[in-house]
Amino acid sequence: MINFRRVALAVAGLAGVLLLAGCERPSMQTHQIGFRGTGMEQVVNPRIVAAKASLHEAPAALEPADSSGPKAGQIYQNVKVLGDLSVGEFTRAMIAMSNWVAPEQGCVYCHNPANFADDSMQTKVVARRMVQMTQTINATWKGHVGDTGVTCYTCHRGNNVPTQKWYADPPAPTAGRLLGNDNGQNKAGKQSVGNASLPYDPFTPFLLGQEPIRVTATTALPVNAQVPLKQAEWTHGLMIHMSEGLGVGCTHCHNTRAFAEWSQSPPARITAWHGIRMVRDLNNQFMVPLTSGQPAERLGPAGDIAKVNCATCHQGVNKPLNGAQMLKAHPELAKPSGPPVKTSEVSVPGVQPTGGR
Ligand code: HEC
Ligand code: HEC
Ligand code: HEC
Ligand code: HEC
Repeated sequence: MINFRRVALAVAGLAGVLLLAGCERPSMQTHQIGFRGTGMEQVVNPRIVAAKASLHEAPAALEPADSSGPKAGQIYQNVKVLGDLSVGEFTRAMIAMSNWVAPEQGCVYCHNPANFADDSMQTKVVARRMVQMTQTINATWKGHVGDTGVTCYTCHRGNNVPTQKWYADPPAPTAGRLLGNDNGQNKAGKQSVGNASLPYDPFTPFLLGQEPIRVTATTALPVNAQVPLKQAEWTHGLMIHMSEGLGVGCTHCHNTRAFAEWSQSPPARITAWHGIRMVRDLNNQFMVPLTSGQPAERLGPAGDIAKVNCATCHQGVNKPLNGAQMLKAHPELAKPSGPPVKTSEVSVPGVQPTGGR
């Protein structure tokens, strides 16, 4: 006689095995990153790390150039930011920029070969501004990038346009909808918030605008300090992006027993706080003003230019290029030069956010 209970158990068991087969193979690595018993651990899959290793490798530095002789600004006709370099150093910087941003096209990606002084190519105009943006990151935002700093390669990695960037979402059509504006929620498949049912553009309010990044209310009763639900959802969307962009869990920056509490958070959260302000500044001071010159195919569905988020530099690791010191070989990108650049918010290293807020 057939024992239906046994069969049912066997089927359930088999289904369990099949389900588990979808899980990752064992031998994950776990690193403790907080006090014992707080669950502050980082779990990494060594196979995924190995597969992506080349993305996080810095290219070899070019040989240093001779710093003697006349300056580029004296020899060339239309040099506005790198004029203090010797002609040798200037040429070396041009070769590095070609390798980092346009390895396939080379010099002609930015230059009219008949006249290198000509500014008619938009890529050259953008590149000049990018030099100033890179200098600003390295000089003004040390509270985030430290002495490690960034070069063009940190974002571009040999691509004309960085692979990791964001565009605003076009406003959702409200006409004929029962529930009005859904704020971009429930759009499965949106990578920005890890496919969760969250508003999928947490960038416009936080990485362009200056909305407060809050979930926790400051008082027990719902008075003025209550945080609107929309803002809480945006906040979670941004947090998921930050975790994925850095390839870390929430506990890299939070003790999850009290997310809002700065005194219980690891120091990385302070670095992240400066990072949020830096990204806002880059998008407002450098990216958005470049919009009007860009050809239509470079703009997003809402007509906006590609903008920077955490993944643009980090690309899935907590220190871009695993902390490679590329800037040391390119001092021309370490401090501002050319026409002065205004920054909307200046980070003061050492000054940190206080209290639970
Ligand atoms: C990613 C864009 C980009 C690439 C690629 C590039 N350049 Fe440039 N180049 C610029 C910018 C921007 C300037 C202006 C710099 C300034 O204003 O300080 C410039 C200026 C110059 C000038 C000065 C011209 C003048 O008379 O004003 C020369 C020469 C030059 N580049 C040579 C090269 C060479 C050679 C290569 C290839 C090895 C190259 N560039 C690749 C962006 C680029
Ligand atoms: C913080 C990240 C970041 C850094 C650092 C950076 N860029 Fe960019 N760059 C971007 C983004 C994002 C875009 C896309 C904007 C757009 O659509 O043109 C871009 C676009 C460009 C473009 C226009 C490409 C095109 O075809 O439209 C050029 C040229 C360029 N960058 C050159 C440089 C150079 C040269 C450096 C170093 C001096 C540099 N960038 C550093 C983020 C960065
Ligand atoms: C890379 C660091 C980092 C990671 C990873 C991170 N956070 Fe945050 N989180 C921050 C920072 C910084 C703030 C404060 C932002 C500000 O005030 O500008 C914050 C704020 C918050 C807040 C708001 C607290 C309040 O005051 O109301 C919550 C809730 C939160 N994070 C949850 C999470 C969750 C959940 C995750 C994982 C999905 C996560 N965070 C991952 C850095 C991080
Ligand atoms: C312009 C490039 C760039 C962008 C954009 C950027 N970062 Fe970073 N970040 C860096 C560099 C470079 C370092 C390494 C600094 C060092 O080595 O001291 C770093 C370090 C960090 C660290 C410390 C790592 C650790 O484990 O101690 C955190 C946390 C961090 N970034 C968070 C963020 C967040 C969150 C964002 C987006 C809001 C962001 N970063 C955007 C370049 C960037």
